[in-house]
Amino acid sequence: MIDSPYPTGSEHPHATRRGLLRTALGASTAGALALTGARPAHAAPRAAAGRTAFHGVHQAGITNPPPGYGTFLALDVKARDHKDLETLLRTLTDRIRFLTAGGTPPDPGPDAAPADSGTLGPVLPADELTVTVAVGASLFDTRYGLGALRPRRLTAMRPFPVDALRPAECHGDLSLQICAESRDTVQHTIRDLLRSTHGLIRPRWQLDGFQNRSRPTGAARNLLGFKDGIENPDTGNARDTDALVWVGDEPRWAAGGSYQVIRAIRILVAGWDEVPLQQQERMIGRRKSDGAPLGAADETDTPDYRNDPAGAVIPLDSHIRLANPRTDGARDSRILRRAFNYDRGLDPDGEPELGLAFCCYQQDVARQFEAVQIRLDTEPLARHLRPTGGGYFYVLPGVRDATDWLGRTLLTAA
Ligand code: HEM
Repeated sequence: MIDSPYPTGSEHPHATRRGLLRTALGASTAGALALTGARPAHAAPRAAAGRTAFHGVHQAGITNPPPGYGTFLALDVKARDHKDLETLLRTLTDRIRFLTAGGTPPDPGPDAAPADSGTLGPVLPADELTVTVAVGASLFDTRYGLGALRPRRLTAMRPFPVDALRPAECHGDLSLQICAESRDTVQHTIRDLLRSTHGLIRPRWQLDGFQNRSRPTGAARNLLGFKDGIENPDTGNARDTDALVWVGDEPRWAAGGSYQVIRAIRILVAGWDEVPLQQQERMIGRRKSDGAPLGAADETDTPDYRNDPAGAVIPLDSHIRLANPRTDGARDSRILRRAFNYDRGLDPDGEPELGLAFCCYQQDVARQFEAVQIRLDTEPLARHLRPTGGGYFYVLPGVRDATDWLGRTLLTAA
């Protein structure tokens, strides 16, 4: 039996999230539902998580709904030269292709070390596993002769006034976003990938995330206790994803990729928990109980800013209003958020280190994430948040078929 964080009868936390669900239901076939992992709230509970396709024009792990667990792993590349780097990317491709499909690892016999750690048993479940591979700006330094091929808008993550960054938890040559329905699948995957690329990479930082259950229905909750991920671009609408998420040729090898922003944002829960409810709701702009915009009936209702120009109902400095003021001018700064909660235990002062493993995808970090973050720099909620790490990365184009490999277009253009 698959270890799922959602017990029989409970719904996947994001099953009813607006944009992501539209992706699944838009195709209106059982196949599409199986592919995305989403299902309607009233569907029968599934017995086992399925398989998310690995091959495609774009990598998986961006437009499909986030499953129960997600880890962000940043790596430094230790490959000696261009050829070694190709070996690294080909090896990652082979392992990810195998692990995301699930199946029986080869048996090298009792005199050899086992091919697999065995932590998932003799047959690996697919478990909606996705591994999304992205490159950081530092990979385009002088080491591998890739300087002229750096994606045009890829830079190192810039600091913001709210930040308290820990240098050891920032940046990286590569990022791996590893998502699955079960924690042990994520952990097994990390162990497998590190073993098979030993000597070619060195892990730099890791951020382990999870989704809370959807309670009572609808979107799951973040560790402020508010529903999160209600509003997102419509991932089932190619016009939205082409305008906001996927990158064209800049340069040509990069077509089909996307810019990824990862931020470890600690929530200072001791202070937050003492804030009166009404104030919490005015900081977010939504009701805590059911996620509806203030003054509206349901979490899926659109906030009515036009009839509230002075912010009497939803304050002008509330999180949702600053993040997406819904003006024509702000339309192209929308981002595709795909966040998880994190819990790193206690800090040295005995305070819980909880937060949001914020992740978003976009076409242009300055036009989208940074524009939103700059609007949020002055929000009252910022007093309760402390970003401690993360980075900017470029998600490589998808792997088209069994002969293709991650980064092929980049390395063959060099
Ligand atoms: C710990 C940090 C954060 C927390 C706890 C948080 C929480 C929330 C909550 C509760 C919502 C309302 C529900 C929803 O529409 O999904 C929301 C919406 C949103 N947040 Fe955040 N957020 C955080 C950080 C950020 C950051 C860093 C950004 C981008 C720079 C961001 C951008 C957005 C956007 C774009 C929306 C949707 C607004 C809309 O379209 O109405 N958030 N967030």
